[in-house]
This record gives sequence, C-alpha cells and structure tokens, in this order.
Amino acid sequence: MQDTRISRRAVMMGAGAAAAWLASPARALLQAVGQIEVPAFVDQLIGRMTLEEKAGQLQLMASAWGGGAALTLNPPGSGSDFQQQVNEARQGLLTGVFNGNGSRMARSLQAAAVKESRMKIPMIFAADIIHGHRTIFPVPLAEVASFEPDLARRTAEAAAFEASGAGIDWTFSPMVDVARDQRWGRGVEGGGEDPLLGELFAAARVHGFQGADLKSNEHMLACIKHFAAYGAGESGLDYNVVDMSMRRLREVYLKPYEAGFKAGALSAMASFNEINGVPSTGNHWLMTNLLRGEWGFKGFVVSDYTGDEEMIAAGYARDGRDAAKLAFLAGVDMSMQSGLYRQHLPALVQSGDVPEAMLNTSVRRVLALKAMLGLFDDPFRRIDEKREASRSMLPTARALAREAGRKAIVLLKNDGDLLPLPRSGKRIALIGPFAAGAHDLVGPWVVYGDDSKAVDLASGVRAAVADPRLVTVTQGSDVEEPLAGGLAQAVAAARAADLVVLAIGESSEMSGEAQSRTEIVVPPPQQQLAEAVAAVGKPIVVVLKHGRALALEGAVANAPAILATWFLGTETGNAIADVLFGVHGPSGRLPASFPWKSGQEPYYYAHKPTGRPNPPGELQPYKAHFRGIPNSARYPFGHGLTYGKIEYSGLRLSAPSMPMTGSIEIAATVTNRGTRAAEEVAQLYIHDRVASVTRPVRELKAFRKVALPPGQSEVVRFTLTPADLIFYGLDDRPIAEPGSFDVWIAPSAEAEGVRGSFDLLA
Ligand code: NOJ
Repeated sequence: MQDTRISRRAVMMGAGAAAAWLASPARALLQAVGQIEVPAFVDQLIGRMTLEEKAGQLQLMASAWGGGAALTLNPPGSGSDFQQQVNEARQGLLTGVFNGNGSRMARSLQAAAVKESRMKIPMIFAADIIHGHRTIFPVPLAEVASFEPDLARRTAEAAAFEASGAGIDWTFSPMVDVARDQRWGRGVEGGGEDPLLGELFAAARVHGFQGADLKSNEHMLACIKHFAAYGAGESGLDYNVVDMSMRRLREVYLKPYEAGFKAGALSAMASFNEINGVPSTGNHWLMTNLLRGEWGFKGFVVSDYTGDEEMIAAGYARDGRDAAKLAFLAGVDMSMQSGLYRQHLPALVQSGDVPEAMLNTSVRRVLALKAMLGLFDDPFRRIDEKREASRSMLPTARALAREAGRKAIVLLKNDGDLLPLPRSGKRIALIGPFAAGAHDLVGPWVVYGDDSKAVDLASGVRAAVADPRLVTVTQGSDVEEPLAGGLAQAVAAARAADLVVLAIGESSEMSGEAQSRTEIVVPPPQQQLAEAVAAVGKPIVVVLKHGRALALEGAVANAPAILATWFLGTETGNAIADVLFGVHGPSGRLPASFPWKSGQEPYYYAHKPTGRPNPPGELQPYKAHFRGIPNSARYPFGHGLTYGKIEYSGLRLSAPSMPMTGSIEIAATVTNRGTRAAEEVAQLYIHDRVASVTRPVRELKAFRKVALPPGQSEVVRFTLTPADLIFYGLDDRPIAEPGSFDVWIAPSAEAEGVRGSFDLLA
C-alpha cells in the first residue's frame, strides 16, 4: 500500500520538479561542462605511434630530480633516478612528471622529449599546488571558513600565476572530497562537511586555476580529486573502504566533483578507496558510466599514486597486468607512479584484452589537453627561470595571503568581549608550542612553501602592538610531549602578564594524508599546559592551530575567548594579529562542526532525525544522545561570532506556498546592535518535514555575507525554487515532493535564528 502511494506521488511530482530543475539558473551554470578541442595533428601523431609510445603517454611518474620532493611526500617511492627519466623522455615512455623542482628540471626533461624523442611530443609537468606555490595561502578547509568562494578563486589564480612561472602545467587540485568524520586527516585539503559549500568552492577553485584560457602561461590545468567519496572512508581511517547508499553518494559526496567538472575542470584523479566493493580505480560505473556517460566529462582521468597497483592488495586484481587492465578498462586514462600502464598496456592490446581503439582514445585525450595547454605551440611556455623568480612571493600575493588568512579565522567564543585586545597598555604572555618559531605555519600538503619565509604568531603580535617589549614568549610544551620545566615557565609568564594568548593545537604532521586520529583533542601535554596556565587566573585567549575540527575540553573549552585559526600559511602571524587586535573583525564560519567529544564522530549538522530525538534542554532517558552530552555540536557548522552583536528578526516569506513551477522569496532582517563593525554570514536552511525517504534535520541552501556597521540593519533575501528541494527518491532519481518545509535564516546550522515554514504545492 505504502509503496504504491509513494511511487504514485513520485511520478506525479517528478515531472514538475524535473522541469523546474532543468529551467533553473543553477542547472544552466552546471551545464557549461568543459569541452576539449582535438587538433587534426593529434590523430596524425597517434597514427604514427608505436604501442609502447602510446602507453608512454599514459604513464606519469614522480620527478626523481635531486631526490625529488615528490618521493618524500609520497613514500614509498619507486627508485628511478633523474637520468633514467631523461632517457625515458627520449624514448617517448613518459608523459610527464610531478612535484619536480622548478624550471631547470623541467627544461632538461622537456628538451629531451621535444628535441630527442621520435614523436617530439611535449611532456606535461604536474604538482600538488594545493594552497599555494611559494606564497602559501590558508589550507583549503580554512579558506572555506571564509564562506567566500571568490576568495578561493583569487588564491587559486594567484597560486597558478606563481606555479605556472615555475614550469608547472597541471595542479592536482582542487581536492573536493566531502569530509564528515573529523578523525580523517585529509579533511584539511577539502571543502568541509557540506555539499553546497563544497560545490561552490570546487567551482571557484577550478575557475581560479584554469582561468579563461588554458594556453595562458598564468594558468594551469585543474584536477578534481579524489574521485570518488574518498572522504567517506569507514571510521575516518585514510584509504579505508566506503560502503554507502546511492542516495547518499549522489546527494552529498558526488556533488562537489560534479560541480568541479561542470566548472570546466578537464582532469580528474581516481580515489584510493573502494565504493561498495569496487575500488574507484577499477570502477567502470564510476569512471565511465557516471563520469563520461551521465556527466559528459571530456578530459582525462589519472590514477592516484600507485592506485592501480593497490588493487592487488585490496583483493580486486590478481597481479600488475590484471590491475592495469582493470583500471584502464574502467576508464582511468593515465597511471601515476606504478609504471603498470607502460609495462602492460602494449601486451594487453596485443593479446586483445584491451582494444587498441580505447588506447587511442585515452592518448587522444591526453594529447588534446597538452595541445590546449599550448605545449605543442611552445613546450617551454611555462618554463622560464626568470619568470619563476620574478613571480615568486610578490607583495600582492602576500597581501592576498593575509586577507585570506584573516577571513579564515573563526571566533568560536568571546565571553565578556575579551577580544579584540587593546594594542597598548597590556603585558601579553604568548604561551604554547605555536607561539613562535618557523614551524607549522604553511601547514600540510605544501611542496614548495617554506616555513622560514612565513610570519609566526610572535612576529605578527609584536608588529601589531604599540610596545613589543610588553610581549613575552614561552613555549611551555612540545606538541605531543611535555617539555622539561615548561609548565613552571609558562605559569611564571602568565603571572607576570595581564593576559595570556595560548597558542596550542595540532602540528602540520597531525593532519593531511595518512594522519587519521582516534581522539581529535588538543594533545594531552598541551591540555596540561592549558590547565596550569588557566589556574593562574589571567584572561586567556586560546588561538587554536588545527587541520580539522577538534573536540575541546577542560581549560581550553572554558577559556573566555577561542579563535580557530587552522594553518594560515605565509602570513599566519599577521593575519591572526589583525583579528586579535581588531584591525579586522572575525568573519569566518565553521565549515566543519566541532563536536563535544571525539566519540561523536562522524558528526555533521545535516544528520537525519531519529524516531527518538532528545527535545531541546535536559537529556532525557531513552532519547537519542550519547551519555552525558547533547546530540549536537559544541560549535556547529556555520558558527562564528563577530565583534558586533548580531540579531536576526522578522522572517518574511513572499507567499505561504510555492507551486511546482514557481519560486518563493524568504527574507529576514539582520541587525548589528553592537558598537563595532561586523561581517555576518546569514545562512538559509530548510527541513523537509515528511518525505518518502527521511530527510536531514537541516540542509544549507544559500548564504550571504553582509557588512554591518554598528547600529545598522540589512534585509537579506533568498529565493528558493523547487529545484532546491530536490532529493533522490526511493528509485534513486531526483524528485521534489509536495509538502511542508521548515525554513530558517540563522547564524549557524544549529542556531534558531528566525524560522518559518512553507508548502510546496503539487
Ligand atoms: C597521493 C595523494 O593522495 C594525492 O592527493 C596526490 O595528488 C598524489 N599523491 C601526488 O602527490
């Protein structure tokens, strides 16, 4: 009975919703999928290539130059040396290298390829330009905290400008994996827990890296990674398996990838994980049916580092030959680092296991992209030692890093308006392992950045205050080990000061690849430091360093003021000082929820309700919660205070209901009742009260950042259409169902803000 009712509803509503979706501006934007142009000479070249040369165009290796940053960053490396790579380039057995060391290296390889190889096909040079080249911007997760996608476009563009001067044609970025389990270390590289933010930042970064013309030597090819659902590994363990419903995959995890491709990204990287029993690298449904068939992707797919070979250990491929065959037939065009394509594709074609036409298609894609990057016109167009030096760490890039840094900072708590601090008249004790020193500034996943060229917290604070002699620096503790005498020195420093800035958290190595944590807390010796310093009784501002959301405890959680500052890159200290002293008010919002306890993970705001929700207030027996903590976040997604006093009022809807082909406007007034200017991020959430499949308690649908001088109000307006209410129904197809929706305009995913409701009509 029930099934019939649901499917009848689905049929009735599916048509209207689909029409609305197809007509929506969002859909139009997403339809601009990147196209490739294949010059005629590409097919002529393919016609003259041997099988070995074709396979060579599909083999990418880590640069072996001078030990190679790539090999350090991606152990275990395979041990080819640079001269061997030059020889491979001469023989046409190498399509390119990644994470090499600048223009000189690129020039020697490129010369071997275009002057000495038979086909004279240029090499492509790739690198992990994740959050900057030499000027390092905030880690991607931090940048998402700005809730300002255009900022990410600008930093990606600045990174491309520097890197493309240093011989780099192709970045392995953006990483757009939705991450809902903070134990996973690689959330730091991505867009946080929410699919909408993920989509917007994915698209912005693609636009920034690629620009309007891939030939420009100020831009480079972007790579959407890690396709797909790499962020959903079980228990937050890196590389772990993913087993999830198609609905969740489509509604949450796939969205940012699709947005990146629709924004024009023309390369993709396969993820290490399996999805529902099939490794992504060997997953034909993912790489061919979905990516190319459904989404119309025209670029090429590269495996992740030895990802093809890893299908053997995963129990999916028998041996290297089988792994190469499975990956290639699934739709992975290029192999990274294992050497398996070069080794096995020619024989696989000869034995008839791989059709030569397929090999030609993949080579065609790769050569077309090399042509689009302008490499056939001028293989040295991005290889220019002078330009490499003249573009490096320019004042404009540093200024952008500082702007991005302060916009990424989130004010979690500010009891008694402790912040902003006065710039004079106070003795400030900077305490903690991150108070000073050229370490842990640029953060994880940096190939070319340099901590010694970055501004630490102590330098930033000293430059900001009237009298730097009033600032003391005490380490107090190492990151994960106590420091002999450290607590006593820290206590003495706190006693001698008027206030304490406690710089604690995670080191760069604690997040990033292969850095999953079981307890996402401030490491115990630093927690002890916080307890000892708090016992002195001076006002404390906690300045957190972290690559993930943390579970704060004890004296850290109880400090009157807490700033989430992530890893901010080259301008770390200046950006934090800008916010500490109120030169700029904090405007960041959390892209990932801070739970009460590690054991709540995976915790994300858009969770489903249960049949036994705990009503607001006291914990009740036999209601959904863990012992002793509410079923909520300590600081939810979207949370972030300002130095103003923000109030939401007067929710207004343009109508009580919305027809299936119409729209509805939702507005509210946001007022700054404080005495300082503020930038507020007003967020629109919905909840579908009853549906044929249960819906999350809230979903972010839109947001707006508004600047509010003291005493000023602004009306924020949003428009929803039925397309915004679509979910994947029982048959895994998109549908918007009539019914009642709650709507909030609020300062976070778990704040009440102002609330109303409307109906979607049949
Ligand atoms: C492995 C990582 O998973 C990937 O993100 C990166 O791009 C490659 N190594 C190359 O460094």
